[in-house]
Amino acid sequence: MEDGMGIQASGNYWVLESGDAAYAMGVEAGGVLVHTYWGRKLPRLSDYPAAERAKHFSADHVLQLTAQEVTTGEASASDERTLDATIAGGHLRGLVLRFESAEVGDNTLAITLRDADLNLRVVLTYGTLDQRGLFTRALSVINDGEREVKLTRVFTGAFNLPVGGEFAINHLSGRWGDEFRMNRDPMGFGTIQRDSRRVITSHGGVPYFAVDRNEPGLAASEEAGEVWFGTLQWSGNWRLIAERTRDDRGIIHLGLNDHDFAWDLQSGEAFDAPRVVYGYSANGFGAMSRAYHDLIRQDLSPRPNFVAPIVYNSWYATLFDVDQEGQTALADKAAKMGVELFVMDDGWFHGRNTDKAGLGDWWPDEVKFPKGLTPLIDAVKERGMQFGLWIEPEMVNPDSDLYRAHPDWVLHYEGRERSLMRNQSILNMGRVDVQDYLIDIFDRLLTENPIDFIKWDMNRSASEAGWPTHERDAREIWVRYVEGLYRVWGELRARHPNVIWENCCSGGGRVDLGMMALTEQSWTSDNTVPAARLLIQEGYSQLFPANTMAGWATDEERHEYPLDFRFHVSMAGALGVGGNLLDWSDEECSVAAGHLARFKEIRHLVAGGDLYRLRSAHHHAVSAFAYVARDKAEAVLFVFRVHSARLGANPAIRIAGLDPEALYAVEGSDVVRTGRAWAEIGLIPTIKNLQSQILRFTRV
Ligand code: GLA
Repeated sequence: MEDGMGIQASGNYWVLESGDAAYAMGVEAGGVLVHTYWGRKLPRLSDYPAAERAKHFSADHVLQLTAQEVTTGEASASDERTLDATIAGGHLRGLVLRFESAEVGDNTLAITLRDADLNLRVVLTYGTLDQRGLFTRALSVINDGEREVKLTRVFTGAFNLPVGGEFAINHLSGRWGDEFRMNRDPMGFGTIQRDSRRVITSHGGVPYFAVDRNEPGLAASEEAGEVWFGTLQWSGNWRLIAERTRDDRGIIHLGLNDHDFAWDLQSGEAFDAPRVVYGYSANGFGAMSRAYHDLIRQDLSPRPNFVAPIVYNSWYATLFDVDQEGQTALADKAAKMGVELFVMDDGWFHGRNTDKAGLGDWWPDEVKFPKGLTPLIDAVKERGMQFGLWIEPEMVNPDSDLYRAHPDWVLHYEGRERSLMRNQSILNMGRVDVQDYLIDIFDRLLTENPIDFIKWDMNRSASEAGWPTHERDAREIWVRYVEGLYRVWGELRARHPNVIWENCCSGGGRVDLGMMALTEQSWTSDNTVPAARLLIQEGYSQLFPANTMAGWATDEERHEYPLDFRFHVSMAGALGVGGNLLDWSDEECSVAAGHLARFKEIRHLVAGGDLYRLRSAHHHAVSAFAYVARDKAEAVLFVFRVHSARLGANPAIRIAGLDPEALYAVEGSDVVRTGRAWAEIGLIPTIKNLQSQILRFTRV
């Protein structure tokens, strides 16, 4: 076995190791799979705690205090169940799982448990991810019996925290225009619950937890302290329960949402729950984020180590009022500025003049584009840019040919009102005929036009999520919707491998590991006000890497923020431009061109470097972060000062992540210092309110 990775086994006891992290479990004498350890890797296999039932009082159930990997209808340290099921209308409820077999691979471990009465098999699949301190965990339920089993909850697993001590859960909440809000809540007795019930993952939060110790001196910071973390790879309804039991155990439960959920598992069928990518960091939140960033950029992304082209997007400039002439005028200015890819947003397709009509009819509007998209695409390409287009496949306006032909294709309950949001309904992505229609119409669009980039939007959440013709329990919709979405998007990706796909959901409403595996980048938020964006981007960066974080410099609050500031905020991710360039003066265009040129020099660092968050925008008027090259040869520092009423001096920004022994110069100054000195002494920025700086460090 290589050092620091893989699976160690001794009888029915297993230790997963990745980097400095370890996760252990074993089967106790009665066949129950017991969780034993999650934390820093230990020197010897025999150092890990034995898999035994915990001592209990005679009045307790024998398993009352025993930490388990999967909690069921039986007693366990947790009162929450990972899995729940009923048969025969509730005459038998809950599961009783006992160990059956295990299979150990290089980096995988599959453990089979069985409920003997129901003849229900549960397979837990664990994996270790290289040296990153990350593990994966998934779960399948297979009905080997004769009777139908109704699954009413399928979480991916219970995550048991170390015994003893106080913990706090860090999580992300939010809403439209204010995504990825950072929260930290002490885990008091009882539960903290987070979930999504509206078919989209993340406007209200992300299926993610990062737990640290909530005791004096033990709380984690960016680069120090212990963090236990995880996130679900799923793009739909999810639920997280952070529990502190009466016996003082901390346990996190995470998985598909069981709210309004049921699944009829017939004889011979299997149900797969999405995986959780989880881990342990002994070096604070920064190390956790960098582990996720690496995983997403290198392994999950359909285009490993993606570096985004600079996009211009027409939405804020023209809204629905798009045509050949207007778009070409914008493309002209964009190309001169140095933009690499021109995206025409909403408004281009049949009957789309407002948000009241057109969704579903995905061919060019005959009035706006009488000769189709070709003349515009040619005009864009003649100017040396690639061409991109906005679509919203999952949606339909009642005022569209598609809806008139297939009113039954939307989510609805028979006989009840179909509530609209933004004047639109949601197509039932669980239906195979809907999936086939979408694959066909977008395949044609992409085959007939040389389109390099698609922005896939999704602008409402679900209500009345009914499926009258479904022959099974209609509550399966929440899962079947997402599986259908993955099928359509996956199929289009496979047929058009050169297209870059941007994930949008009224901003960051569906950002999760599932989408990271399907798309190159995500539109972070519809809120492009720079100070707000700094907060949103910091929250986003907890999990998701900068090469996926699309941001445009726009005209929002244009008179509040200098152009430099607006650009610098967007240059922290995948830079784009979204203002109405026809309104920009020559001077503004030339300043913008300078930023684009500058971004081209540093974007390899932004996209591929290690992120070090140095001062949080949530807590400080002067905030800063740096992207450090993997080989530590260079780094780029971003510093922002929003409004501060204080006259006090700017703080020194201590630069983490450089090689402590190497010497580094910083641009614009003669000072050369070791990495250690930059970390200890730091750099004092020379900015005033609403000013910003981007400074490059080079090893000398
Ligand atoms: C959503 C997106 C915007 C824009 C509009 C178009 O709000 O988040 O960027 O594409 O839809 O209708």
